[in-house]
This record gives sequence, structure tokens and C-alpha cells, in this order.
Amino acid sequence: MKNKINIARRLTKYQTVIADTLRDIYGHQADFDHWLAEIFALVTAAIDQRPAYLLDLDQVRETRDQDWYLRPDMLAYMCYVDRFAGDFNGVEKKIPYLKDLGVSYLHLLSALKPRAGHNDGGFAIADYYAVNPRYGTMDDLVKLTRVLQANNISPCIDFVFNHTAMDHEWARKAAAGERRYRDFYYFFDDEKTVQDYEANLAQVLPETAPGNFTYIEAAKSWVWTTFYPYQWDLNYRNPAVFMEMVKVMLFLANRGIEVFRLDATAYLWKEKGTNCLNLPKTHKLLQAFRAVMSLAAPAVCLKAEAIVGARYISKYLGDPAGNRPECQLSYHNALMAALWDSLATGQVTRMSAMLKSLPRNPPATSWITYLRCHDEVGWGALTDDQGAPWAASNDDLQKLNDFYEGKCDHSFARGQSFQVSSTHSFHGTTGTLASLAGLEAAMAAGNNRDITMALRRINLLYKVIFSFGGIPLIYMGEELGLFNDYDYNRDDPERDGRWLHRPALATTVRGGEIFSALAEMARLRKRQQLLHANVPTVIIDSGNIHVFSFIRKSEAGTLLVLANFSPEPQPLNSVWLGKHDLARPLIELFTDTAYDLAQGVMLAPYQGMWLQAQE
Ligand code: GLC
Repeated sequence: MKNKINIARRLTKYQTVIADTLRDIYGHQADFDHWLAEIFALVTAAIDQRPAYLLDLDQVRETRDQDWYLRPDMLAYMCYVDRFAGDFNGVEKKIPYLKDLGVSYLHLLSALKPRAGHNDGGFAIADYYAVNPRYGTMDDLVKLTRVLQANNISPCIDFVFNHTAMDHEWARKAAAGERRYRDFYYFFDDEKTVQDYEANLAQVLPETAPGNFTYIEAAKSWVWTTFYPYQWDLNYRNPAVFMEMVKVMLFLANRGIEVFRLDATAYLWKEKGTNCLNLPKTHKLLQAFRAVMSLAAPAVCLKAEAIVGARYISKYLGDPAGNRPECQLSYHNALMAALWDSLATGQVTRMSAMLKSLPRNPPATSWITYLRCHDEVGWGALTDDQGAPWAASNDDLQKLNDFYEGKCDHSFARGQSFQVSSTHSFHGTTGTLASLAGLEAAMAAGNNRDITMALRRINLLYKVIFSFGGIPLIYMGEELGLFNDYDYNRDDPERDGRWLHRPALATTVRGGEIFSALAEMARLRKRQQLLHANVPTVIIDSGNIHVFSFIRKSEAGTLLVLANFSPEPQPLNSVWLGKHDLARPLIELFTDTAYDLAQGVMLAPYQGMWLQAQE
């Protein structure tokens, strides 16, 4: 009964939003009204079929738990199911491990059925209604989501909606010439059109998949393939595509998925004469997906994976006032790249200026803060197409690439360059957190001082992403300090460089230490209401180019975060601290030490501090 009332209320609230948003995209279609009615019929059917325990979750999150994904007890972990635990049942057995770490959100990579053979690490889906057969069955996945939920861990999977595998039924029918399915993709008969588009497009994988189009012999045409030739971009100009993908999302939401990671979000809409990134209609589509989910499954959260320049990422959270919401969460790839930049240069100037230039997030949205994931560190985030003063030059990026490849004398890193040999150079760097932060090199040299410094770097980076605002994300194996897997081509010579940082979970010599430090950080974070994502993050100038600093402030108090990115001790003076009304006793939360900031502070090499002002 309670649920029924809520659903009726939601319908009143979202019906018009859905209709208006979709009209903006598809309103010109002759049969729009009929199509819209079908969308509503799908949503109504999905609500009818939604299991009672998920309806209850919807109700709880709508009424008294709206901020569940913003709270400081949220900690995300992402893993390849096989490399973490074999299969879905194996993941269930590892729940105690995740709980020890403090994890409350689990992103399972490659959960759905990918094409056989090469599939871009699971990002070429052959069937959205089936799971990866190597991991188990759909029933196993549903069972796993339920056990995770019983353990207060929110399940997340990838929603690969920019493209399907060329082996997907729609693509096969399209290649065979079926009109309806040809319109699901972007087919072009003439090379001239392809070249016209190509002239404005960047390349994501210039070495292993050059160009954005693939010639399909059977269809005697070119098809749009932003990523690998076997990943065919979907044509969202066709309302049938939107409808099919909504159907998929509703189906999976009803299987207990709480967070959808919207893969390659920035590429959805294409427009001739543009770079086909971040286009207004892409945002409209996201608003439509969001409104549909708010109606059909409000317990669900959408997370944007938009690996684009800093000025574009927060747009995936919706407009600043929150009138046209899109995703509740978005990867902060600019922060991620800037952290690595700061670690290499020992200076935080670019990172601070870039972050200061970003608008405040819309209400009830936040970041996924992270250091590494299954993809490369993309240096493009440090550039800016409108010439912002903080933007890195090509020369800066070349230096970063060299640094993380371990090419220069003072480098501690053991990474590799990714997709750099074409004109689209400086693309990125691959490598695990521990290898990029210097632990691999230090351990190989058996140098204790260097080992200590590497462990400090790891700890420093985590102290920033655990306090910055949003959900911190641990990428599988970081908690144990896993090194690069140099043997990644052993079974498959065609694997691209990102497999360097996709090793299977294994025990390591320093793993215990890193794990405990992270678990301790998660415990501290959980209790700290100033780390709730609703509390704004204000970047401040520390007066020292090596020290990154920001304040989290609410009626509950003030938390000052200081992070020394240099290998030398760094002082902060009392004048600066006074300016920010912080010249009073503060407690450093990790060491429980009181600091009288009127005296200034000295930070040890790579030291991070969380200082709480006593009100
Ligand atoms: C996303 C994924 C990446 C994949 C690409 C295409 O960026 O994270 O691994 O290659 O999308 O699906």
C-alpha cells in the first residue's frame, strides 16, 4: 500500500519530465506520442515486476535515506570478477575481505555477456540479458546482489550503452541488411561522409584501433566504431535504440543492480562538424535515462564515466541548480590525472588552479574519487580546449609520460606509455598504483628509504581521495600494492597496454601494511560527518607550491586537509593559516595530535594531514 502511494506520487512528479525531455530529442518523429506511450508502458511493467525487496529499498531511499551515496561510509571497490575471485560465487566468499576493508559499494567489471574472443575487457556486449558465462548464471548474479545488499554493499555494473558488440543480435541483423537494425547503428555507404566526420574526431585508440569507422564487407558500408572495430556505436537518433536500452536498464535494475556505470558517456550523440563529445543531446539523453530511473527504480544511482576535459565533467551531474539532473555520480578523472601530475612534479599549482576553476556540483551529486582504474591515466584531462591558464602544454605532457615510464633520472615510477605513437600522442600512462608510485622500483632495488617514500606516496594519495568529497574508489589490488603484470600478453598477444595494470589478486610482501592503513582510513572517514559529500570542498592556496590544501566546512565544524607532494619537509606559515581563520588548535585525526597553527606547521615528506578545528 505504502509502495503504491509512493509510485503514484512519483508518476505525478516524473511523467511530465520524461515526456518533455524525450520530446526535445524525439518529438519530431511522426509516431512520437505512440512511442512515448510505449516507454511508459515499459516503465509501468517494470515497476509491476520489481521484486518487493527492491520496492522497499526504493521507498527507504526516497523517504529517509536520500543521501545514501553521499555519506562518508561509502567506499567503492572495483574488480574483474575472475581476477578477484574466479566467479560470482567466489565474490560472495570474499565479502568478509571487502568488509574488513570497509567497502560498501562493489563494481563488478565485465559482468554481462561479452562477445567471444576479443572484447575489450568485457566492454563489447553480445547480450545484455545474460551474464558473462565464465562467472556463472543470471541467477548467481541475482543471488550475489542480494547477499551484497544484506551486507550493506551496493552492487554496480557497467552499462555499456554507447556501443554493442558486432556479434550482438542487432548488429548481426544489421550486417545482414535488415532495415530496422541497420538504423540501430551509424552506417555510411560513401567514404566521403566518413572522412568528413573523421576530420573532427579524436581517436581513442590510435595504435590498436585507428580511426572511428570500420568497413563492413557484408554490408558494403562503413560503420561507426569509436573504440575497437568490433564495438559498433549505437545510433541514438533512432528512438528504438533509446527504448531498447531503457528496457535493458530496467531489467538489470530489477535484478538488484544499484549503480549503473554509464560507460563512455560522453560519446552518445553524434553531430556532423563537431568532435561528437559532450554534445547537448548527450546530456538530454542522460536526463531522460535519469528521469526514467527516478520513476521506475529510485533506489538506483547513475554514474558517468566521461573521461573528458575538466570543464566538461561536472556537466554530467546536471545543471548547477539541479533542475535537470543527469548522473548522481561522476568519475573525477581530472583530479585523478592532476594527482599524478603533482606527484611527478612535486608541485600542486596546476591541480589547485584547475580544481578552483570548476563550478560547485549540483545538489545531491558527487564525485567518484580514484587513483587508478582498469583504464590508463589519461593526460588529456590536464589540457583545455579553451586555453585555461592551468592547462598543461604538450611539453608538460611529454615530461609526464617520460616520468611515469621511468625514463628520467629522478623518476620512481614503472609505468608504460599508452597509445602514443601516432599524432594523437601523450595519450596516457598505464601501470598499477604501486608501480606508478614507486613501490615496485624501490622493492626491486631493496632500498628501504625508497620503500618508505613509496608507501608514503600511496598513503598521501589516498588521504586526498578519501577526504576530497564523493565516493573514494579502490581499484582491485591497490589495497595489497600489486605491481604491473609484464606478462599480460602471455595468453593473448593482442591485449592492449591497459592489461599491464589488470593483474589477478595475489598476496604481496607489503600488502598487509597498505591494507591496514586503508581500512583504518575508511574507519576514520566513516565517522567524520565533515566528509559527507554535501559538505562543500573549498580549495585554498597553502602559500607553499608543494602543499595541496582544501577545507571542508559546515555548521558541524571545519576540516583542513594538507598534502605535501614533495619528498622534502615543507613548512606552512602562521600568516597563511590565520587568513583562513584556522589559527587555533586543530586535532590531526590520524595521529590524534593537537596542532597550534598559530605556530605554523611543518609537514614531513609526502605527509598528508586531516586537521579538525575544535568549535
Ligand atoms: C570505457 C571503458 C574502457 C573501454 C571503453 C569502451 O572507457 O572504461 O575500458 O575500452 O569504455 O567501452
